[in-house]
Formats: sequence, C-alpha cells, structure tokens
Amino acid sequence: MGLRAAQTGFAVLVLLQSCSAYKLVCYYTSWSQYREGDGSCLPDAIDPFLCTHVIYSFANISNDEIDTWEWNDVTLYDTLNTLKDRNPSLKTLLSVGGWNFGSQRFSDIASNTRRRGTFIKSVPPFLRTYGFDGLDLAWLYPGRRNKQHFTALVKEMKAEFAKEAQAGAEQLLLSAAVSAGKVFIDSGYDIAQISRHLDFISLLTYDFHGAWSQTTGHHSPLFRGRDQGSSDRFSNTDYAVSYVLRLGAPAHKLVMGIPTFGRSFTLASSNTGMGAPTSGPGIAGRFTKEEGILAYYEICDFLRGATVHRLLDQEVPYATKGNQWVGYDDKESVKSKVQYLRSRQLAGAMVWALDLDDFRGTFCGQNPRFPLTGAIKDALAAA
Ligand SMILES: *[C@@H]1O[C@H](CO)[C@@H](O)[C@H](O)[C@H]1NC(C)=O
Repeated sequence: MGLRAAQTGFAVLVLLQSCSAYKLVCYYTSWSQYREGDGSCLPDAIDPFLCTHVIYSFANISNDEIDTWEWNDVTLYDTLNTLKDRNPSLKTLLSVGGWNFGSQRFSDIASNTRRRGTFIKSVPPFLRTYGFDGLDLAWLYPGRRNKQHFTALVKEMKAEFAKEAQAGAEQLLLSAAVSAGKVFIDSGYDIAQISRHLDFISLLTYDFHGAWSQTTGHHSPLFRGRDQGSSDRFSNTDYAVSYVLRLGAPAHKLVMGIPTFGRSFTLASSNTGMGAPTSGPGIAGRFTKEEGILAYYEICDFLRGATVHRLLDQEVPYATKGNQWVGYDDKESVKSKVQYLRSRQLAGAMVWALDLDDFRGTFCGQNPRFPLTGAIKDALAAA
C-alpha cells in the first residue's frame, strides 16, 4: 500500500516535471566547421545535455526533394545524432532553407501543389535515414503572396508526418523559424493557422537593428528603449512576443530566440551612445569574418579594454572601444530574457547559435563551455 502510494507519487512528480520542463532549442550551423583555428566547430563539440533540441542548419532542396548542403553533411549528421547515445531524451531536427537558400526558391516549390507534394514526401525518409527526430522550416521569409502557401506547406507536412508515424515510429516533429519583424509577420504568416500544425515556433527575436539602420542600436533588446522613436516601437523582443501571442500563437508552442552573437557598428563621430551616427558595420571578427557581426567568444576578446554600458530600460549591454560599438547579450541579459519568457509562460528559449557561444570555454574565461547557453539552461531550470 505504502509502496504503491510512493510509486504513484513518484509517477505524478515525473509527470509534473516533464510538463513544466522548458524547451531549450539550439541551432548548430554546418558552415561553422570552416572557421579557422579555435573558431572551427563540429557537432561533437556539443554537450548532449545542454539543450533539449538541437537543430542542424541548413539542408537544401534539390529537384524538389530535401537534400544535403555541405559535402560532408552525412558525416556531421551522424556525429550530431550520435549525441543521443549519451542523452536519449535529446531531440534533433534538420532545418531546411536559410538566408542563402532564397525565398523565391521556397516560393516556387510551395506555391505549386505537385512540387510541394514531392518535397513533403521526400522529408520523412530523409530524416529517418539520418536519424533526425524532426524538421524545421527556415523559409526566410514567406512574402505576402506566399502566406497561404506557407500554411499549406506546414499543414500538409504535419499530415504526412502523422501518416508516416502510423507504421509505429514516434511521430516526427515539425517546427518553423518565424521572423520577429512586424512587417514580415503581417505579410508572411497566418500565425493562428500555422500554430495549429507546428510543434513549436522559434521566434527570431534578434536582428532588430543593424548596419542598415545607420545609427547605433541594440539588435535584440528585451524592451523598447525610453528614448526610442515611435518607428522603433516594434523593434524589441517584448513587442514581437506579445504580437505573435495576440495573433493566436499559443504560449506553450512559442519559443523565444536569444542570440549568442552581437551586431556591431563603426562610429562616425566621437558620440558613442545609443543612436549615435555610424559609418557602417563594425569590423569583422577574427573567426566569423563577417562585418557587423561578432560571436560571443569574439566579444569576450573585444571586451578587454572596452567600456561596457547597460541599457537599463532595454535590459541588454553594449560595449565600445575606439570607433567600434557592439550590442550583445551576456549572462545577465539572457537571465532577464529567461525570466521574461517564464513570466509569459512560453515553451522555452531558442539559441542562435551554439557555435557562436564560447563552445570551447577558452575565450571568455568563464568555464565551463557554452557560458551563455548554460546560463539560459540554468535560468530555465531555476525554481
Ligand atoms: C541546392 O540545390 C540547388 C538546386 O538543385 C542547386 O542548384 C544548388 O547548387 C544546391 N546547393 C548546394 C550548396 O548544394
């Protein structure tokens, strides 16, 4: 009797735990393997217990069928999926699309019933062959004419996954990376409809501000700044999350993006504050080699000798050194963001990207490895 009660109690506890468990969805990018020296990241660098879901980006579509992108993808898929030997509850997804894929190509396939069907049919066997647990749609971004086609793609893909699972395998997961820009949300997504069929939505709550803005500003503020103009009122995480919820995304399916990279500017004058004039993107990082972007591990290097400011209203830091300005996230800001997503009862956090965090733990001098993603994990687990 006592044992029975204890067992029931234990079962209830386990159930409660799994219900309240937040998702930590982490992207890994295959091109990070090409960064030089200590910047090079392979999937075996990933701690299998860090995230609940790891998404491998990106896959291609060739002859309307899902396909590899890199010459060695099959090897890297295997390395990634082998992480599940150590943590069997880890889920892996393959993301298809991305910035270099081109929205037009997605549009061509999704808008044609037959081509869309061919693509959808090709996905389950591909995922099963390589040991993935699901698909992530990274159509960046569907336009006004594609809204219905994107909904159809999501709906039919989900139906195919349900059908495929009838053979007895666990049903494949389906997620989508969705823009957090109000203009893109309004034109490209039927949020209420796609939410019904997706297991979760990763909201890309970053890139709100960049070199194109011509003044300094943080690319992933949690809240709107007190002195930000009315044109900027949509450019923050809180607005995007609230808006998508209002459009009908259920909170328990919404995953909020947190960047492990910063966006940088070259200052045009001695003004180093917020909204200061810029002459262009910041100098490229030593490893990521892209103007206007710095990995968190490169920012750790930048911070030596830099001046750090915290934006108290936007709840994120920026740093300046010489004529360089970078807005980024640190352990403190990711903690605020996790507190926020918990207060909104969201499904969890998404990280872009594992390979931009200090995945070796050697740059930031704050062992263990993955200091930012680890801080997110800890904040999600906090009582
Ligand atoms: C992706 O597929 C398209 C269409 O088949 C092809 O032209 C392109 O080269 C592929 N990209 C890569 C990186 O393989």
